[in-house]
Amino acid sequence: MARQHVLILGGTGFVGRHLAARLLGDGHRVTVLSRGGDAGRRAQLPRGASVIEGDVADGQFLRAVLDDADAVVNLTGILNERGDDGDGFRQVFVGLTETLIQAMRDMRVRRLLQMSALHATDGASHYLMARGEADKRVRASQLDWTIFRPSVIAGPGDGLFCRFDGLLKLAPVLPIGRADAKFQPVWVGDVADAFARALVDDKTIGQVYDLVGPDTMSLAEIVRFTARARRRTRFVIPLPPGLGKLQAEVGEHLPGKPISRDNWRSLQLDSTSADNGLPKLGLTPTPVLPKLPEILGIARDA
Ligand SMILES: NC(=O)c1ccc[n+]([C@@H]2O[C@H](COP(=O)([O-])OP(=O)(O)OC[C@H]3O[C@@H](n4cnc5c(N)ncnc54)[C@H](OP(=O)(O)O)[C@@H]3O)[C@@H](O)[C@H]2O)c1
Repeated sequence: MARQHVLILGGTGFVGRHLAARLLGDGHRVTVLSRGGDAGRRAQLPRGASVIEGDVADGQFLRAVLDDADAVVNLTGILNERGDDGDGFRQVFVGLTETLIQAMRDMRVRRLLQMSALHATDGASHYLMARGEADKRVRASQLDWTIFRPSVIAGPGDGLFCRFDGLLKLAPVLPIGRADAKFQPVWVGDVADAFARALVDDKTIGQVYDLVGPDTMSLAEIVRFTARARRRTRFVIPLPPGLGKLQAEVGEHLPGKPISRDNWRSLQLDSTSADNGLPKLGLTPTPVLPKLPEILGIARDA
């Protein structure tokens, strides 16, 4: 199928903006579904993307918008829930995915590109367990699915380098738990390319792709690289596990929730993979460190 009508759930976010632009560039028609509320985020969507506001967890709404869709991308997600019992994550990941699958079956829309995360299912974090459960439902759906499991995603407006950049503006010294946790940040453009390729390649149906960048770096290094890109002198103090856990317990109650108990549990696993899906999709992983000025908007500010 050449030109497709693609619905993107969660498409107003960081990945969604980039993916919408990529799909429009390929000539597809893109409709972003949004719960509404954040006009600023919607304004960042590329021209040409339509937005339909509604309750994306409601089967009736989904059936109505699926009427003339060829494919669905599910990017909905949260990093933190209210409380710490896993209910919030299960609602967004498992409940919503289940409702989406049923609506797609009802409307005979078969193609589903599902965003997941590295280590979904593994470890003790409610986030990863709910993600793993959602993936299980997708695998059992009998739809034409593809699942993507990225490490942390890097790009302009990301929740990694940009988030630390904001913290480092205020703090000359940053105490962090699990400073040695390893990541393979993957370039957001590569993530968008992976989805775009899968959309037009039936060989990707029924496949799960880990998406990681070419370079492995620790959390402490990520902070140091961010400071260096701004030419800031900043110091990382690695916290021992007990203090790191305590920091997460306190962080959960601070404005903006810089870290939560569940984030701490996820952090116990290195976010790396030896089975990168990018080359399998014909893509060369982009190193993210040379992209830091672009990610942080340094050239624009200068
Ligand atoms: N960024 C990363 O490093 C990373 C790494 C691994 C996996 N992922 C996954 O990739 C996906 C996209 O990530 P992102 O960074 O673009 O996230 P994001 O910027 O937070 O966007 C997620 C979108 O999900 C929707 N959403 C949020 N809460 C929701 C809820 N309770 N019910 C329904 N929809 C909700 C929002 O859309 P509306 O407010 O418009 O409805 C939002 O735009 C997420 O599933 C995320 O977990 C991201």
